[in-house]
Amino acid sequence: MAGLDTDTAASSWREAPSLPPEPIRPEITAASVRSEDAIPPPPLLAESDLRLGTGPIPASRYYSRSWFELERARLWPKVWQFACWGEDIPNPGDVHVYRILDRSVLIVRQRDGALKAFHNACLHRGREICEHHTHRSELKCPYHFFTWDLAGTLKWMPSKWDFPQIEEESFSLPEVRLEVWNGFVFINFDRDAMPLRQYMGRMARDWERWDFSDRYKAMHVEKRIRCNWKTAIDAFIEGFHAFSSHPQYLASSPCDCSQQDVYADEPHVSRYQAIIGVPSPKMRPPPSPQETFENVCGLVLPEAIGTEEGQLQPGESARAGLTRIYRKFYDKAYGLDTTGMSTTELIDQVAYYIFPNTMPWPTLSYPLFYRMLPDPDDPEWCTWETMLFVPFKGERPPSAPILKLGPEDSFEDFGLGEVGTLFQQDAEQLPAVQRGMHNLANGELTLTEYLELRIRHYHHTLEKYLGE
Ligand code: FES
Ligand SMILES: [Fe+2]
Repeated sequence: MAGLDTDTAASSWREAPSLPPEPIRPEITAASVRSEDAIPPPPLLAESDLRLGTGPIPASRYYSRSWFELERARLWPKVWQFACWGEDIPNPGDVHVYRILDRSVLIVRQRDGALKAFHNACLHRGREICEHHTHRSELKCPYHFFTWDLAGTLKWMPSKWDFPQIEEESFSLPEVRLEVWNGFVFINFDRDAMPLRQYMGRMARDWERWDFSDRYKAMHVEKRIRCNWKTAIDAFIEGFHAFSSHPQYLASSPCDCSQQDVYADEPHVSRYQAIIGVPSPKMRPPPSPQETFENVCGLVLPEAIGTEEGQLQPGESARAGLTRIYRKFYDKAYGLDTTGMSTTELIDQVAYYIFPNTMPWPTLSYPLFYRMLPDPDDPEWCTWETMLFVPFKGERPPSAPILKLGPEDSFEDFGLGEVGTLFQQDAEQLPAVQRGMHNLANGELTLTEYLELRIRHYHHTLEKYLGE
């Protein structure tokens, strides 16, 4: 909410009288709420039924050097990983430098519009060919000017007479596997890796519904933060912490009732779905439907509050009112006709995860994209990135520049509004989670069976990659 004093709101909630015991799962579920919607969600969003038990997770995976080195050796060289948004390198000769741990890859837009990825190392003495995002007509190493064309074919070399061992035709830059999915560029260092769409399994099929070619990158924030990359993943792979960390949304988001989806034959993807427009059962006394409605309406169309359209009509539920408001907003702002779109795809949060570190959200009102990158050498630091992909009217706007925040910077100081408050609430938890994990007497994390199912699911996949 505009003008929210985070500290005051959060601490007053934390110091509120104790909540009553909660031995019984709330009756409301995503499915039961959605069954009342005028346009129900597509069948592909139905709940999965896999559970993975309640075993503990060793906390040392989040800080030990040996686990970090296992990830370096056995995880990152084998997985598909998001490298960049294709529209950030739209023109032939645009180059993105993707860095992961101590390796880097050049993503290069070709003259025919395709993309290629190369190991970022000159074949002479190994210098990085490009050090940062740039535009080049050819790939010339700055050290002694060995030069390749954009397709990686050798064009020129200094003192050719003195390199009798080089066969020019085969002295091309070695490529890295690259595939583009929905405008997102992924790479894989493993030449024998399965294709990206096979890796993504059912998620690739689900997303045939959600086309991001009509989206642009409206926000890109990067923050260096003192926690393991998985500590940051965990904060965005579950909505369980929302009632306590983001209490300003209790009136409109029942996080205990979110839906978790994992599948036995899908090691690389999972999903959660948070219903919006229903109060949390934890909120005492419960808010009125109008208060629930305004809690979200204030975010999307604040000018409607206090007017007739900001008032629930007789018999209208908060979700129906939000659907009405959102449809109007997208029509007005983007000329987008959402008449046939399900309520869920308009107002709910649907959060997909691609193992190990990428989270794209497809629904129109929460088009978020998260990536957590490990620090090159320290298990207890990472870079947390958030992007926002929104529709546009007319010509494609340029991608937003990257806003880079240091460890001490607050998200609230950069004009991000409500989103800044939300991220800051997460940012203040993460370093304390990281420090606290060292103090666990038994060295174990105790997860819920259901609401944190996706954390357990990716740990199982991680164990398989690491052979542990
Ligand atoms: S290291 Fe690249 S030209 Fe010498
Ligand atoms: Fe959060």
